[in-house]
Amino acid sequence: ASQIPAELTQVLYTKEQVDDRLRDVAAEIDAEYGDKDLLLVGVLNGAVMVMADLSRALRSHVEMDWMAISSYGSGTQSSGVVRILKDLTTDIEGRHVLVVEDIIDTGLTLAYLMQNLASRKPASLEIMTMFRKPEALKNPVSVKYVGFDLPDEFVVGYGLDYAGRYRNLTDVGTLAPHVYA
Ligand code: PRP
Ligand code: MN
Ligand code: MG
Repeated sequence: ASQIPAELTQVLYTKEQVDDRLRDVAAEIDAEYGDKDLLLVGVLNGAVMVMADLSRALRSHVEMDWMAISSYGSGTQSSGVVRILKDLTTDIEGRHVLVVEDIIDTGLTLAYLMQNLASRKPASLEIMTMFRKPEALKNPVSVKYVGFDLPDEFVVGYGLDYAGRYRNLTDVGTLAPHVYA
């Protein structure tokens, strides 16, 4: 059993629920890509947990690479400022690329990232995110694989942080407003 800190008001998804959903999403991805070689691109830091679990749930042949893009800093609101802190080490031209994210909130990060990656001429380019906030649905970026749609609350755990903390919670829950007010 995982430890639930006092700062969480509610557990939304347990690790078991996340794992169950990941198995289904992995099966969809396997069915889609078949024998093709797939390059999973994780967006640091949040995607570390979902990358570790998704990649091992897949039967497809996968490689992994990472980008670090920050739009948040330490606050709870997206600043709209997207910076590449670490670029890919792989040349993705002609590769089947699946971007792996923990959460899409405003969609600003991925709007920038997808445009950037598309310009490198991958054979295909899709997105998998474990979680999606309602605001993201207003964004034109199309997301092929979604774990769960979340309510519009500040959520932590399974890679999602508040000021760098709580990423390592195995369960996903809502952060008490007094923590970030
Ligand atoms: C978070 C999250 C996504 C992004 C989504 O990353 O992991 O990458 O914000 O927000 P958006 O849809 O509003 O752009 P963050 O910038 O906090 O960095 P982190 O992954 O290191 O926590
Ligand atoms: Mn992130
Ligand atoms: Mg963050």
